[in-house]
Amino acid sequence: MKTRAAVLHDVGQDWSVEEIELDPPKAGEVLVKTKAAGLCHSDEHLVTGDLAPPTAVMEEMGLPSMFPIIGGHEGSGVVLEVGEGVTHVQPGDHVSVSFIPSCGRCRWCSSGMQNLCDLGAQTMVPGMITDGTFRHHSADGKDLGTMAKLGTFAEHMVVSADSLIKVEPDLPFIPVALVSCGVATGFGSAVNRAGVKPGDTTVVVGCGGIGMNAVQGARVAGAKHIVAVDPDEFKREKAGEFGATHTAASLEEALGLVTDLTWGQMADNLVLSPGLVTGDMIQPAIQLIRKGGTAVVTGLSNVFAEDVKLSLFELAMQNKTLAGSIFGSGNPRAEVPHLLKMYQAGQLKLDELVTRTYTLDEINQGYEDMRTNKNIRGVIVFED
Ligand SMILES: NC(=O)c1ccc[n+]([C@@H]2O[C@H](COP(=O)([O-])OP(=O)(O)OC[C@H]3O[C@@H](n4cnc5c(N)ncnc54)[C@H](O)[C@@H]3O)[C@@H](O)[C@H]2O)c1
Ligand SMILES: [Zn+2]
Ligand SMILES: [Zn+2]
Repeated sequence: MKTRAAVLHDVGQDWSVEEIELDPPKAGEVLVKTKAAGLCHSDEHLVTGDLAPPTAVMEEMGLPSMFPIIGGHEGSGVVLEVGEGVTHVQPGDHVSVSFIPSCGRCRWCSSGMQNLCDLGAQTMVPGMITDGTFRHHSADGKDLGTMAKLGTFAEHMVVSADSLIKVEPDLPFIPVALVSCGVATGFGSAVNRAGVKPGDTTVVVGCGGIGMNAVQGARVAGAKHIVAVDPDEFKREKAGEFGATHTAASLEEALGLVTDLTWGQMADNLVLSPGLVTGDMIQPAIQLIRKGGTAVVTGLSNVFAEDVKLSLFELAMQNKTLAGSIFGSGNPRAEVPHLLKMYQAGQLKLDELVTRTYTLDEINQGYEDMRTNKNIRGVIVFED
């Protein structure tokens, strides 16, 4: 069938909204009509080249290029057709996508670590999870990859059934899309990985679509002080609505503030979620946490970045933990319905995360608004 999608042809280009050819779902795959897609910063990392180097660089290294690629890994939709052997969803079901698939059988899935499913490793190589071939093709016949094996910036998607989570049909499509990346990642970074407890002092560095959910995760977990750090004034203002008790414009400013707030003990935990993590942010983050505290790195850095500024002495002698986190260190199939129940119960503010919605054709405007900090989360809404 023909459908429309936002394709990125190489690093540094605009998203190109074009008609594409989509093959029917094969065994283990599902055709989905997309309803909403969130504009997460991780897709912006494709544009900047932080997540995927340009085609020429990959070819030089003897590796397959990730381009051209259909963007988008946060989304919701309705199942239209299922391939052979698909049993957990059927046509008409409402679904959330999952940027980490879960096979249910690997060591990680079967021991409560679905966010580390072995199938997730395949999200960085082109082709379908099921058999490595392509269902998406450009009008001139080129195979198209899909971001995180999803490609939610398209009117229709063909994805592996392992990447879909069935949700209640009465839920609105925007919050169902938001929980599939930003909410689960931010909330889980604070609650699951940083382990925020009642009475804690928690610092969140970078309060966009991910960090704002770390702020509300800390609020729900009962933190006493929640310090939101962001250079942007609008984000600092909004952070207060999601539960921040204090704000700072930089890591340096936060150092003085947290020292005062805690009588020098420093924060119990910290989530690092700026648009791009660089190695020089690690030592200031470690300095902001107390003895025995935890600093969680959730934001992405350049895929080749290895240099970090870190006092190993302080790390060891103060018994501190520096932790990484993907998908908020939770199980997608448990977290997505759980977070949506919390939204229905009024515990999570999801509608409030959306500053503006866009059509697929307005995607470049949406990303420009992200770069200029006009949105907490921009969302593409698809027509019926
Ligand atoms: N680990 C995961 O599973 C996972 C999942 C999704 C996204 N991410 C990553 O999380 C990061 C945040 O994504 P997002 O969608 O919230 O981005 P966003 O663009 O919505 O928000 C980023 C925020 O960081 C702020 N910022 C920039 N520089 C800063 C600095 N030096 N100090 C403090 N704040 C700073 C910006 O003002 C902005 O408010 C990205 O790197 C993204 O790729 C990780
Ligand atoms: Zn994301
Ligand atoms: Zn698995």
